[in-house]
Parts: sequence; structure tokens; C-alpha cells
Amino acid sequence: MPVYILGIESSCDDTAAALIADDVILSNITANQDIHASFGGVVPELASRAHQQNIIPVIHAALQKANIGKNQLSAVAYTRGPGLLGSLLVGASFSKALAMGLNIPLIEVNHLQAHILAHFIRNTTRSNPVPSFPFLCLTVSGGHTQIVLVRDHFDMHIIGQTIDDAAGETFDKAAKIMGLPYPGGPVVDTLASKGDPMRFSFAKPNIPGLDFSFSGLKTSILYFLRDQLKLDENFIEKNKADLCASIQRTILDILLLRLEKAAGETGIREIAIAGGVSANSGLRSRLADLKHEKGWNIYIPPLAYTTDNAAMIAVTGYFKYLKKEFSSQSHAPYARSSF
Ligand code: KG4
Ligand code: ZN
Repeated sequence: MPVYILGIESSCDDTAAALIADDVILSNITANQDIHASFGGVVPELASRAHQQNIIPVIHAALQKANIGKNQLSAVAYTRGPGLLGSLLVGASFSKALAMGLNIPLIEVNHLQAHILAHFIRNTTRSNPVPSFPFLCLTVSGGHTQIVLVRDHFDMHIIGQTIDDAAGETFDKAAKIMGLPYPGGPVVDTLASKGDPMRFSFAKPNIPGLDFSFSGLKTSILYFLRDQLKLDENFIEKNKADLCASIQRTILDILLLRLEKAAGETGIREIAIAGGVSANSGLRSRLADLKHEKGWNIYIPPLAYTTDNAAMIAVTGYFKYLKKEFSSQSHAPYARSSF
């Protein structure tokens, strides 16, 4: 009998549920919240209200697609943090009630560990290659930018991280400055593919070690565009693709320089990426180049497991289930954490 885990994710603005049989995915449903687009970013109060509306239909859909009844569930796994507290509370309360009602174990999951463990999700038709331990994971999302040394499923060490903005946040803020819709990352990615990445130069950080900084780049984009708009009010419109390509190239330069340094210092050549920004086509193609140049083994998650999803919560729940690492009903969600 396989272990059936229902995974529930509600840390930001996506309400998601997934069903997994051991590490094989059966269903993975996400309800995106379009409501935030007109505000140019996630509005926490609106996000938690939307989670309340979405959570039951999303879980129903996940169970139905997997053709699993709730009485067959072995455990419920949910995102305890980090994230927006109001959003987390919806998923946490629902998961606790469901686990208690069904009298099955409750499993708490760290969202950042789950982004990394998404590499271990298998699908029914193929068994994808999984990274072997130890590996390095560049986790790049809207809220986090980290290089993680992964020695085992739950033996993870952050060896470098951003000291200010996250990479996804930088994509989103640059897009906002240019008047592009939210979330900006995918829009910049699409426009960048038609532009010249070397046309414009922006500031890059000069900090020691393996940490990242993106606030100087953001300011440099802001001032550059402010000056150009004084000379030509249509500057952004006329140069949109080249601007996106140059901004994306700079963000990727900053990320990859540190990743190369981390690989050099640790001697590890198993390299994975995770998080929303790992969907970026420029990052994916530059990693493919590095694979040949450096002799790295590269692990890039399928697009469905890059941005927030519940499949990654379910698979993390599965590994915890095997270790019998169950959670207490009294654990409250947390907004911030490392691992
Ligand atoms: O992991 P995620 O869904 O949520 C967080 O945990 O933050 O990441 C969302 C971030 C957003 O900043 C979004 O703009 C970025 O991922 N993103 C991308 C792309 N797709 C999503 N950034 C660059 N290129 C993309 N294709
Ligand atoms: Zn995330």
C-alpha cells in the first residue's frame, strides 16, 4: 500500500493542493489569485481572504483528480512557514482540522526546504534524474535568494543569501518601474528573449563571500530610467526588449557568479535550482552552458514545480512521514525562518 499524502500550500498568493502516492505525483492543483495584479503586488489581507474561498474547492479538485477518497489519506502535510502569516493561517487551520477529523498524522513543512525537495517528485510516466547528495541548490524566489548546501533531505545549510532584496523581487520591481504588469518576472523573461542583453549596463554588487545584494541594481535601474525619460518620454516603450534583456542579464550575472564561486569553494558539481525564478528561460540556458563549461550535473525542476505549488509540500511530507516526523496541533505558523 503506498503512502498517500495530501499537501497543502498557502504561504503567499497561490492556494494549492496536491496528492502524492509515495513520491509519485497523482494531482497538483493551484488556484492563482488574479486579484493582486491591479495593485502591482500581493496585498496580504486580500490573499488570506482569497485562500479561504479557494481552499476547499482546490482540495476537492486534488482528491478528485487523483481518484483518492479522504479516508485513504495517510497524512496531511502543510506549509508552516515562512510566508505571509494571514495566508499561512488559512492552510494551517484547515490542515489541522482535517488531520484531526480523519485521525491521521499532521506534518509541517518548511516552504524553502520544499522548493528544494521538489527535485525528488516523480511522475507516473518517467523517472526523472534526481540530484545526489551532497548538492548545491540556488533557491531563487520572490522572497528568498539562497545558495543551499544540501547533504541530505533535511540536512541543509545556507552558505550564501541576499542581504537585501530577493532575485524575484528585483525582477518584479524592475518590471514595475517600467510599467509592466505584476508579477514582472515572467513578463521580463518573455521580452528579454527579443532584446540585446549587452545594450545597457547596470550596477553590480561588490560584497565579499557568497552573499547577494540587489538593492544597488534596483536603484541603478530607477536612476537610469529617470534620466532617460527626461530626454525622451517614450524611452521605455522604444527600448523595452533591450531593457528587459539587459536587466535579466545583470540579475543572472549576479546569481551565477556566486553559484560558480560556491561550486569552486565546495568542490561540488551537482547543481540544482529551485523557486519561482528557476522558471526563467535565460537562467536555464545559461546553466546549460555552464554544464558543458564546468562539467556540472544540472538539475532544473519542471515548470510546474518552480513557482509555489503543493506537490513540493506533499513530497516533503512523504520524506517526513518515512521518518515519522509528525507535527503538533499546537504549532503556530511562522512568517520568517531559515531551516
Ligand atoms: O517561488 P515563488 O512562486 O514564490 C515565492 O515563494 O516567492 O516565486 C515567485 C517569483 C516572483 O518574483 C516572479 O516574478 C518570479 O518568481 N518568476 C520569474 C519567472 N517566473 C516567476 N522570474 C523570472 N523569470 C520567470 N520566468
Ligand atoms: Zn515559494
